[in-house]
Amino acid sequence: MLRDLGSRDAEFIGLVADIRRRLVALSGADEEHFTAVPMQGSGTFGIEAVISTAIPPEGKILILVNGAYGQRMVRIADRLRIAHTELECPEDCTPAPAAVEDILAADSSITHVAIVHCETTSGIINPVAEVCTLARLRGCCTIVDAMSSFAAYPISVAEWGIDFLVSSANKCIEGVPGFSFVIARKGALEACQGHARSLCLDLVAQWEGLEGDGQFRFTPPTHAMLAFHAALLELEAEGGVAGRAVRYQANYAATLAGMQQLGFAPMLRPEERSYIITSFYYPQHPNFVFRTFYEQLSRRGYVIYPGKMSQADCFRIGHIGRIDLADVFGLLTAMREVLSEMGIPIIPI
Ligand SMILES: Cc1ncc(COP(=O)(O)O)c(C=O)c1O
Repeated sequence: MLRDLGSRDAEFIGLVADIRRRLVALSGADEEHFTAVPMQGSGTFGIEAVISTAIPPEGKILILVNGAYGQRMVRIADRLRIAHTELECPEDCTPAPAAVEDILAADSSITHVAIVHCETTSGIINPVAEVCTLARLRGCCTIVDAMSSFAAYPISVAEWGIDFLVSSANKCIEGVPGFSFVIARKGALEACQGHARSLCLDLVAQWEGLEGDGQFRFTPPTHAMLAFHAALLELEAEGGVAGRAVRYQANYAATLAGMQQLGFAPMLRPEERSYIITSFYYPQHPNFVFRTFYEQLSRRGYVIYPGKMSQADCFRIGHIGRIDLADVFGLLTAMREVLSEMGIPIIPI
C-alpha cells in the first residue's frame, strides 16, 4: 500500500475489477447473478448506502435488533425517514425466525428485512439463513450486515436468500480501513433504480460507474485498495474462508480456556457464541477497574475492547485479524500479571 497509483490508471482499474471478482467468489455466488460494489468510507457507509438506495419511497423495512449494530440500522432508517419496524430481543438472545414470520404475515407493507450476522456488541451469531430464506419466500428483499463475519464464516449469499450483504475492508479480510463493500444480487440492485436518497451513497450509481469505465465516481482510497488486494491473496494462501476459520476458531478456543483459568466467565451460551469476539463479565472483585485493566494491557501491547452491552458489565476480546496462538498466550500472560498487580486473586472457573 506504499505505492501511489492513479485512480483512473489502467493498473488501478484492473486491480478494482479483480477485487470485485474475488469478493463475489468469496460469497459463494456467481457473477451472472451477483456483483460486488465497493463504497468509500467505513462499514456504516456501506450499510447506509444499501438502506438509502434499496428501499423505495413506499417501502418499509423490518430491522432485527439484538445489539448496537441492529440499533444503528434503526437510526439510519429514522434519519432517512424510511418507514420501519423493529423486532427487538435481548442482547444475549437471537431473534426467533417464527417471530419474523409472524410479523411479515401480519404486515404486508413490509418490503425489506435487515439482520446483523455476528452482532459484535456481544459476539452472538444470528440465524441469517433461516430469516432471509423465509423473508424472500414472502417476497421481501433481504439486507445482511456481515461486517465482522464475512470471510471468517462460510456464507452463501445465493443459498441463504441474501440480496445485499455488507462488510468492510478491515475486518476478517484483514485489510486496512478505508472502504466497505456490498455483495448484491443484480436483480435486486436493478430494482433500486431511482430510489437513492444520497448522491455519494447511491449504490446503483456506484455500480453503474464501475461497470461502465471501471472507475469509482469519486476519489477512491487507492492505498487501502492495494492493501486489500494483498489481503485477499493472503486469505487465499491461508486456504480461503475455511482456512481462516480454523485459525480464528483456535484463537477463540485458546482465549476461552485461558480466560476461564483466569476466572473470567463468558457471557453468552456456548451455542450462540461466535469465534469472532467474546464478551466476558467483569470479575466480582472491588479492585477491578476496567480502565486500569485496559491501560495496563495496552501498555504491554495488547488492546482489548470495552464492553458494548447495555445491561451487563462486560469487556470483549477479539479473535480476528492477523493474530494467532502466540498472541493469545501473550495476552493471557499479560492479563495474569495485570490481575496480580491489581491485587485480584485468580480463581479458575
Ligand atoms: C456488525 C457490525 N456492523 C457495523 C459496524 C460498523 O462498522 P464501521 O465502524 O466500520 O462503520 C461494525 C463495526 O465493528 C460491526 O461489527
